[in-house]
Amino acid sequence: MRRLYMQTTGLLLVMLLALPFVFYAAQFGQAGLRATLAEPHYLFSANIPANHSVFSHMIAGALVTLLVPLQLIGALRRRAPRLHRWSGRLIVSGAIIAASGGLIYIALRGTIGGATMNAGFTLYGGLMLLAATQTIRHARAGRITQHNAWALRLFWLVLGSWLYRVHYGLWYLTTDGLWSNPDFTGGFDLVQNFAFFLPYLIGLEIYLWRRRQPAAP
Ligand code: HEM
Repeated sequence: MRRLYMQTTGLLLVMLLALPFVFYAAQFGQAGLRATLAEPHYLFSANIPANHSVFSHMIAGALVTLLVPLQLIGALRRRAPRLHRWSGRLIVSGAIIAASGGLIYIALRGTIGGATMNAGFTLYGGLMLLAATQTIRHARAGRITQHNAWALRLFWLVLGSWLYRVHYGLWYLTTDGLWSNPDFTGGFDLVQNFAFFLPYLIGLEIYLWRRRQPAAP
């Protein structure tokens, strides 16, 4: 009981902490789509398909970042299963739009950080597409264990975009931006291209593997 309470509190706290980023992404996305950005920005260009993909990925991403912590709250899932299913469909659709938008943008214009950042973000988008489709596929087939595992992978991937900013914030606070530069080619920047999602996914795989082991007699 205490564990469930802590888990719910933790998820609500994550939701609250991610809220400023959710607003930032939604605001950035809608202003970009309407071509009303307050200042010129390198993400906005004369390439219309690139603009549409990058700015709509921000709006879809904001929505899934907001909703995904709620989806893991067990009490809500048990008391309102229909809500869980509908918000699940919304999250999967939003994750597919966010990932596809990001991937199309990379294909059309590439990222600011060049090859390594392109590779990191392409892997990130590919994994998000995979996790989103597997989560809904297993749910539809009634394979609850696999559904839960993929839903947890999707959870960490969605939070990755927020964690990316959290990593940068903490790093700049403690080191004043050591090994990081505006071109995103410093040592820290290069590691960051993968460090906002891979370590969390590896940690999750270890957790899932341990959970699968039979309990000691
Ligand atoms: C899941 C939630 C996501 C949110 C809320 C989100 C939000 C954002 C925001 C706000 C930016 C603008 C960066 C800034 O200047 O602050 C951005 C940039 C970007 N995002 Fe996402 N994103 C998400 C997922 C993804 C995914 C899955 C991909 C995968 C391909 C992706 C790829 C990109 C790319 C390529 C850029 C431009 C990088 C550059 O500056 O060159 N995003 N995202």
